Amino acid sequence: MQYILLAFVFLNSNFIWAGDVMSGNHEVKGRLEGRVALVTGAAQGIGKEIARVLVREGAQVVIADINDEEGALAVQEIGSKSCYMHLDVSDECDWQLAMQRILETYSKLDILVNNAGLNGAVDPENGTLEKWRKIQAVDLEGVFLGCKYAIQTMKDTSEHSSIINISSIAWTRGIPGGIAYSASKAAVTNLTQSVAVYCGQKGYNIRCNWISPGFIPTPMLAGIKRDAEQEARFQEYIRSIPMGKMGTPEDIGNGVLFLASDESKYITGTELRIDGGVTAWTGIPWTREK
Ligand code: NAI
Repeated sequence: MQYILLAFVFLNSNFIWAGDVMSGNHEVKGRLEGRVALVTGAAQGIGKEIARVLVREGAQVVIADINDEEGALAVQEIGSKSCYMHLDVSDECDWQLAMQRILETYSKLDILVNNAGLNGAVDPENGTLEKWRKIQAVDLEGVFLGCKYAIQTMKDTSEHSSIINISSIAWTRGIPGGIAYSASKAAVTNLTQSVAVYCGQKGYNIRCNWISPGFIPTPMLAGIKRDAEQEARFQEYIRSIPMGKMGTPEDIGNGVLFLASDESKYITGTELRIDGGVTAWTGIPWTREK
């Protein structure tokens, strides 16, 4: 029987999947078919890969950023299920306009990924308030505004709503040279829990979770200044990660996919850490064999 079925599929399919032939459906459905997603900071780096994964799984994706040139190129790369929108996440008017345009075009929003982020050197002794505020405006206030306008939009328009905030493993420990970044990422984790509980208690069908990526090669990571000695120490540190290497932007995209899909429908207010085990380890450089 199996051989007959295989022969039937081979002769008739033009390489279409067997299951589809049997069901008469020639299109493999993605896990996010029919969903509308907005990904901030998606012109490059992790955000662009998140957008690519969501499109691959059938979602219509709005790529939002302040870098209009890279944003347009990202749409060319990712294809017609994506479009670009200028959105400065620290600007409340931009959020209002974005939601208005999404409702006019798609009548709903199912998935928001608050991914846009800024890093910068701010230490506790010499850091300037100006730089501190610039980073908070994007990394924390941008996430607050995103959650606020997503809740208002999703609660009446979507039955599968998921907000995913991109934090960082920086939230778990001190980063003496980057306190504005690590403090904002820590605040995002608490904000996410409050949003999750608020939506649950209000009876909204909106889940909210956060992802803490470890080291991922992107323009942000490449942009952190390191001299030759620091670079060598950094590479040694990367080798010391339990999995021995950095992650990829796609690893984060796949985590977003899980949290955006119905496979995580009972998960809210929690963290997905994607860091190759780096925060699971004490850092003590030996292992007990006996
Ligand atoms: P990236 O710098 O390569 O990309 C960030 C994007 O955000 C850029 O396209 C930029 O134009 C956009 N952006 C900046 N300010 C914006 C604003 N006001 N409004 C809208 N868009 C804005 O950074 P990467 O590495 O892709 O980071 C993405 C997220 O992942 C960030 O939240 C970052 O903190 C987080 N992350 C990154 C890690 C890494 O190792 N690359 C590790 C942990 C977290």
